[in-house]
Amino acid sequence: MYQTLITRLESSIFIISINRPDKLNALNNMVMEELGLALDEIYNNEAIRSAVITGSGSKAFVAGADISEFLQMKEDGKALAKKGQELFFRIENAPKPIIAAVNGFALGGGCELAMACHFRVAAENAKFGQPEVNLGIIPGYGGTQRLTQLIGKGRAMELLLSASLIDAATALQFGLVNYVVPQEELMNKSISLLSLINEKPPVAVSKCIQAANAALDHFSDGYEIEAFGFGECFETEDMKEGTAAFLEKRKPVFRGK
Ligand code: COA
Repeated sequence: MYQTLITRLESSIFIISINRPDKLNALNNMVMEELGLALDEIYNNEAIRSAVITGSGSKAFVAGADISEFLQMKEDGKALAKKGQELFFRIENAPKPIIAAVNGFALGGGCELAMACHFRVAAENAKFGQPEVNLGIIPGYGGTQRLTQLIGKGRAMELLLSASLIDAATALQFGLVNYVVPQEELMNKSISLLSLINEKPPVAVSKCIQAANAALDHFSDGYEIEAFGFGECFETEDMKEGTAAFLEKRKPVFRGK
């Protein structure tokens, strides 16, 4: 179905591999378009409970936007950035968890893609950076904003201005990734984290994502969104099941209702 992605559904986890290993999985137009279609699947397919995005091969997650397309672009730069931002907002605001399994270079648009995911797991060989200034541009798919949110302004400024890369251990220390594991354990670790989350009631999971995102959205009242989400969870059958199961000292059986 896809030309630049390999997808599979495994125990309700949708695994998306960006598949241009000879170009270090660079984000060309087709990858961006197909990521949009894969997101439609995540949003609309009830069999999918969560997703992981990774890159094919052992060298790169994604080494950036496809630089070879830059000089023949028909749209202007701002429109290109807006289109990428919209796509990555859909990842960030997805009602189901989407994590990045970073298996090598995550540079430029690749670092931005990983940062748009709800959290990140890295292989020991992962390298992160926003080297756009080397090309005379700046990150355009949300990188200036999310890097600052995730690692703080001083560290973000240094990476943005110097185009320096950081290794996986530094990314862990900066809070950019949650775990660093040997490359051969990367998918198992990612799947086991999502399997744990998939056991939780989906409405509560979705409301957590929405409320935590609102904490960093200048246009939202995060406390209001939290209260609203809490209220919606309070009306669910899963809330009744979760509290009853606790009181009855048994394991809950959530039905997603
Ligand atoms: N866009 C398009 N093609 C890219 C790419 C990108 N962002 N990153 C890598 N590639 C291609 C290379 O052109 C090369 O293609 P070729 O074999 O047809 O010449 C192939 O992927 C392998 O990359 P190469 O540079 O030979 O690998 P390397 O191990 O020597 O270096 C990097 C790896 C990641 C350091 C280097 O590829 C790089 O700096 N990439 C660009 C990173 C960047 O600036 N990203 C931000 C873009 S906005």
